Amino acid sequence: MRIRRKPYAKKAVCEHPRVVMEPVSYKGRWKKLFQNENPIYLELGTGKGQFISNACISDPHVNWIGVERIEEVLLQALAKADKTECTNLRFLWMDVNHLDEVFDEGEVDKIHLHFSDPWPKKRHAKRRLTHHSFLERYKNVLKADGHILLKTDNELLFDFSVEELEQSGFRILEYTRDLYNSPYIQGNIATEYEEKFVAKGFPIYYLLAQPVKGAH
Ligand SMILES: C[S@@+](CC[C@H](N)C(=O)[O-])C[C@H]1O[C@@H](n2cnc3c(N)ncnc32)[C@H](O)[C@@H]1O
Repeated sequence: MRIRRKPYAKKAVCEHPRVVMEPVSYKGRWKKLFQNENPIYLELGTGKGQFISNACISDPHVNWIGVERIEEVLLQALAKADKTECTNLRFLWMDVNHLDEVFDEGEVDKIHLHFSDPWPKKRHAKRRLTHHSFLERYKNVLKADGHILLKTDNELLFDFSVEELEQSGFRILEYTRDLYNSPYIQGNIATEYEEKFVAKGFPIYYLLAQPVKGAH
């Protein structure tokens, strides 16, 4: 993704009411922030926010949190969020690296990973959001019966993710190498990247995983 730097973006992000600044102070208290007992779903690498600003409308009984590290990109997600009246949507301007500093053990119900950067070079594998070092963090913050949902156009990232998940104590519950010709397409909300790849006729890879019991 080419990013045009915007000097005002940092300030605009910090001042936006949907951005939770100092998220570490909410560790263990996220339900208090939302003022309800609804499940917490994260979208990691939320990008320009098309998915999450639709998901908060179609799933109003979920507390949605989008995590994005690039302020210019987050600003675009915030502009989309501004067009909804949802009270169940917040954003974190941070690196996914810090996830377990921000959420307590078992505080998160579901993690969505949509079209994460594939980092194709082997020496960059550690940067992939499904590298086992990230999966360990996700396992810490997920409930024992929580889920990871992954969609990608990238076969190498998909195969890598399946391997890493299985080696990190996750069980694959749903799996397809062609989401749009599978039963899992029902209720699917497309992301910006997804729309582009589908328009080009690329297959979309999809999986749903859960921590193996006792692997916590
Ligand atoms: C390829 S884009 C996909 C965006 C969106 N999920 C979609 O499907 O349209 C990946 C996004 O993840 C963000 N990202 C990548 N690594 C990240 C990290 N470690 N922490 C937070 N955001 C990250 C990037 O800045 C980018 O906006």
